[in-house]
Amino acid sequence: GGSYEHIVVSKPATGVRLVTLNRPKALNALFSPLIAELNHALFDADKDPEIGAIVITGSEKAFAAGADIKEMKDKTVAEVYGKDFIENWNDQTRVKKPIIAAVNGYALGGGCELALMADIIYAGEKAVFGQPEIKLGVIPGAGGTQRLARYIGKARASELILTGRNFSAQEALEWGMVAKVFKPEELVDQAVKTAAEIAQFSPLAVKAAKEAINEGYNLSLEQGLKYERRVFHTLFGTEDQKEGMAAFAEKRKASFTGK
Ligand code: CAA
Repeated sequence: GGSYEHIVVSKPATGVRLVTLNRPKALNALFSPLIAELNHALFDADKDPEIGAIVITGSEKAFAAGADIKEMKDKTVAEVYGKDFIENWNDQTRVKKPIIAAVNGYALGGGCELALMADIIYAGEKAVFGQPEIKLGVIPGAGGTQRLARYIGKARASELILTGRNFSAQEALEWGMVAKVFKPEELVDQAVKTAAEIAQFSPLAVKAAKEAINEGYNLSLEQGLKYERRVFHTLFGTEDQKEGMAAFAEKRKASFTGK
């Protein structure tokens, strides 16, 4: 629910919140009011016990064509540094429930970076990714130089960021940045289907799995494995663990309650 101007929020399946970026005249260029609404909708879904997973999408033409260049162009360093411009774009990474970015069309600059913050990226066959900031006299500012390098490797990320060239859904799939590619018209349905599948599992286990994966990115393998094991151990304190394993032994479908 909620009354938003630049996004549309819906519930396309049990347990799923779909957030559609909706600023078509500017190809979903990311300006502050849109980011504020997106963050509001994400945290709202994160708090809602009925919701187990979130899908973020745009239109068939554009997921998002990047930060709003017209909003940015006259900003001074005092403004951007002083007000920590785009720092709140990272808020998506504080959401505890899984987020699937369903990318059709352009995902450029901040649009690509927004997708990179999601847990899973699904792309339409004609999706166009890129970090073109170098052409504007700047660099990616919302994780492009960091996440892209970690996800697809330093050599590929450097080539893309230093030339600003676009890359395709197929390339992103080959490099492991995108999990799956679909026909454009099937993309959102497929993302919702996956989100619904996730939403039927124990929300405690789902939260723990996401947390362990993301925590590991900042740790050594040894520390990460230890962290994972501790979280795994903790789940034995949940009713959902008892239910999940009992259901397997009794050859029936588990019914999770989040307890
Ligand atoms: N900011 C502001 N407005 C944008 C925009 C953006 N990033 N991208 C598109 N628009 C606007 C256009 O100005 C145009 O508006 P008008 O009709 O008022 O002129 C409208 O959206 C439609 O765009 P085009 O006419 O350009 O559409 P196209 O199909 O010919 O081209 C495109 C599409 C290749 C995506 C082209 O719009 C484009 O190159 N956009 C800019 C992409 C870009 O450089 N993004 C990076 C931004 S910097 C950044 O994101 C920083 C960061 O890391 C946080």
